[in-house]
Amino acid sequence: MQDPAQRFAASRAWHERASRVLAGGVSSQFRAFGVFHPMHYVRAEGARIWDADGNELLDYTLAQGPCILGQSHPELVARVQRAVARAQLFAGQHEEEVLLAEALQRLIPCAERVRFASSGSEAAQACIRLARAVTGRQRILKFDGHYHGWLDSVAFNVAPPGNAAGDAPVPWCAGVAESAAADVVCLPWNDLDAVRQVMARQGAEIAAIITEPVMCNQGCIEPVPGFLQGLREICDAHGAALIFDEIITGFRLGLGGAQAHYGVTPDLALFGKALGSGFPLAAIVGRQRWMAPLEAGAAYHAGTMNGNNACVAAGLATVELLAREEGAALRHIAAMGARLRDGLAVLGVRHGLKLRVQGPGPMFNMAFSALPRATEFRHVAADDRASYQAFCRGMLLEGVRLIERGLWYVSAAHTEDDIAITLAAADRVLGRIAAGDPP
Ligand SMILES: Cc1ncc(COP(=O)(O)O)c(C=O)c1O
Repeated sequence: MQDPAQRFAASRAWHERASRVLAGGVSSQFRAFGVFHPMHYVRAEGARIWDADGNELLDYTLAQGPCILGQSHPELVARVQRAVARAQLFAGQHEEEVLLAEALQRLIPCAERVRFASSGSEAAQACIRLARAVTGRQRILKFDGHYHGWLDSVAFNVAPPGNAAGDAPVPWCAGVAESAAADVVCLPWNDLDAVRQVMARQGAEIAAIITEPVMCNQGCIEPVPGFLQGLREICDAHGAALIFDEIITGFRLGLGGAQAHYGVTPDLALFGKALGSGFPLAAIVGRQRWMAPLEAGAAYHAGTMNGNNACVAAGLATVELLAREEGAALRHIAAMGARLRDGLAVLGVRHGLKLRVQGPGPMFNMAFSALPRATEFRHVAADDRASYQAFCRGMLLEGVRLIERGLWYVSAAHTEDDIAITLAAADRVLGRIAAGDPP
């Protein structure tokens, strides 16, 4: 195993140069949390990515989720190239935009109407605006540990320190508008009683409950049985909108999203990441009643780049490729993900390490924790992050690229051999950690 300083020397040099011009050396805060330092890359294909030093890495970050088909899928690339050869952006409607919207309407239960956007963060804002416009109420209820983009209205209790239900919302970072806190109520996830109690007191002020249907960003925690259905019933009883943030669950749990998977239909939902396979495409979808302010021109959502040719073509290619052979690619992703997830759990037992590996499979989370199952953020907050960092360092030196907060994404391009290579690498790295010699 080579010295990381030599192995990633070019990446490090690029990072130092980038830091003199890009703020923090990166274009998104999540890229600043590199295992050794933020890495620089030159090429990616299928499940593999090559860094500036020429290291070939098996990739489970998939660009933080979007590359569900793997990178540079030839049919997707060709389709995008054809679209861009016609024009980049019409600032008007076009055929492929309508075709993609029709596909989403067919596939996603709540998608009676669709509006395209360019990022998940702004799609979340649009959903919240719609909920406020329809209900005439201001406040939203969100859950601890859930991330709905970087903008102020939802930048609370993303990773709250030692939170308790009913505590004042904790801003995500410096600079978040203090005034925004007044419009947010934050609660632990998977706790219907807590939601019922708050709604009984404040339901008349709450425009929407927004939730990731699986708490992907922290612990990859699935809803306990009845939780999503319970939220549906509470929203119906109080006249609030139920918003599903399907930015990660979208397409990983099926082309109908988590709402089809769990059989609970929200009023509004946002899709992104995998929808555009790495191109900046997001969608706001919803029941006609909740999308009506857009149709009536009463509430605005806009964006110069929305519906641009390259992104829409990427979206159409993604949907078509995932739907092919009755969803063969999605079945493959689920099977590979489950094999990897279960294999990692077995390795933890074999090495006598307390590992928690949980999640549906197409995405899952791995953590060093004595708690065999997490159901809400407080469980995740107690994870041993230093050991996971060591694991990520060891895996990177083994040629496997992971997300440092424990989330794993599997793509259609990952093969059985890739899973075997990854498990063999994990076996070696966990062996070192178990022996008290962490990388
Ligand atoms: C669940 C969830 N919602 C919203 C967002 C924001 O999406 P974007 O980064 O496209 O703005 C993310 C991004 O990671 C996410 O994971």
